[in-house]
Amino acid sequence: MKATSHSPASHKPRQQSHDGRDGHDGHTSAASTATQPTQRPAERGSLRDERQRYVPRGVFTYHPIFPASGSGATITDTEGNTYLDFAGGIGTMNVGHSHPAVIAAAQAQMELYTHTCAHVLTPPLYIELARRLTEITPGDFAKKTLLVNSGAEAVENAIKIARAATGRSAVIAFENSFHGRTNLALALTGKARPYRANFGPFAPDIHLVPYADPYHGGADAGGWRATLERFFSTRVAADQVAAMIVEPVQGEGGFIVPPADFLPTLRALCSQQGIVLIIDEVQTGFGRTGRMFAVEHSDIEFDLLLTAKSLAAGLPLAAVVGRAELMDAPLPGGLGGTYGGNPVACAAALAVIEVFEREGLVARAERLGTMALERMHAWQARFPLIGDVRGLGAMVAMELAHSDEKRTPAAAEAAALLTEARQRGLILIKAGLYDNVIRLLMPLVTTDDEMARGLDIIEASLAAVSAMTPAELEAAH
Ligand SMILES: Cc1ncc(COP(=O)(O)O)c(C=O)c1O
Repeated sequence: MKATSHSPASHKPRQQSHDGRDGHDGHTSAASTATQPTQRPAERGSLRDERQRYVPRGVFTYHPIFPASGSGATITDTEGNTYLDFAGGIGTMNVGHSHPAVIAAAQAQMELYTHTCAHVLTPPLYIELARRLTEITPGDFAKKTLLVNSGAEAVENAIKIARAATGRSAVIAFENSFHGRTNLALALTGKARPYRANFGPFAPDIHLVPYADPYHGGADAGGWRATLERFFSTRVAADQVAAMIVEPVQGEGGFIVPPADFLPTLRALCSQQGIVLIIDEVQTGFGRTGRMFAVEHSDIEFDLLLTAKSLAAGLPLAAVVGRAELMDAPLPGGLGGTYGGNPVACAAALAVIEVFEREGLVARAERLGTMALERMHAWQARFPLIGDVRGLGAMVAMELAHSDEKRTPAAAEAAALLTEARQRGLILIKAGLYDNVIRLLMPLVTTDDEMARGLDIIEASLAAVSAMTPAELEAAH
């Protein structure tokens, strides 16, 4: 396990500034000498203003702080404050910030050459990574790998491959899903605001059906099975469908863990009807759920599997791994792009795979998840604000809801909790259709001690938020 050099300080709540945002200048930390800030003092104070001036508001950010350096499970900002990072770049940093093996691999490749474009000269590292991904993904069948730059691009290419392979056009995706922000990925994404709003029209022949959601859907998890059957008899005949794309655990949707029979049922249906089953592991992949890939929990075979995020420890890289005969359906030149499979990113990804094996990070995910779930379940008795606790491996979340009969989503409380945790030295992020789910995506190199301290901070923040008046809640985020 990699040692981390920083520890989160007992961060004090910041002063509210005159414009209602929490003031940055009053923030002090015992760890403030841990890292040298990279900006000059005059620049530091203005970063928030400059962001507002030069970066479009669509590029949302959870926290008004700016990173200067990272190590393991901690991040130090430009003012020298060190935080425990339980967001991990939204799940990209499973091997931790600045892992020496990843840095060394990327640096070594940088010194040789940075890019040739695989369509001109294919880097040997592209081929090596393609092979490694076919080896570490589940399923004993011939596979091939396409490398691209982002999760959304992997999604787009998977749909292209499925359509080319089947000669069909219809695609089924799920409500409350997230598959990315490009136009086709948005068509497959099941959350209207902020993702789809204002961006239509979307690609035709894409159909969203309910996901199996035990918390919101009750005993039959939202009636997904009956709805799917009705869909095939009323909307699109099953033999017209090219692909079904599904997250094994919904990520942005709020860490929804479906019942055990969900994926096997979809697998059986797709096999019967010749539908390509695309498993989107962009967020669940690379060890997060206590298996290298979440689909392994269901013991089913994928047709195409998508991975990104933690694949290359934050360098832009994503992959479509699939059955060789499907992957070869598009014509030569039909797949690829200028940057896909950049050798520096491939070097980082190969190092990430080695780190996972050497440091036992998949087992570590189980351990961290168990620690988090135990504490969260105990908190449920103390804080009525916690409507649900759920997770798979280290993909753990708690959904905040009011104690009324409908368990109305507590979005303001979730936002306030993020602020409270940040002020105590912990970076958290949310998820969910109603933005009321607190999700944990800490690096898998987080030590037991760091995990315990992060959970202590969440507990203290929950206590603070639970005691807030509506006016205080409004001011807190
Ligand atoms: C399941 C899933 N698919 C696709 C994407 C899109 O990935 P990217 O943001 O790299 O385009 C995400 C991003 O969060 C995701 O969680």
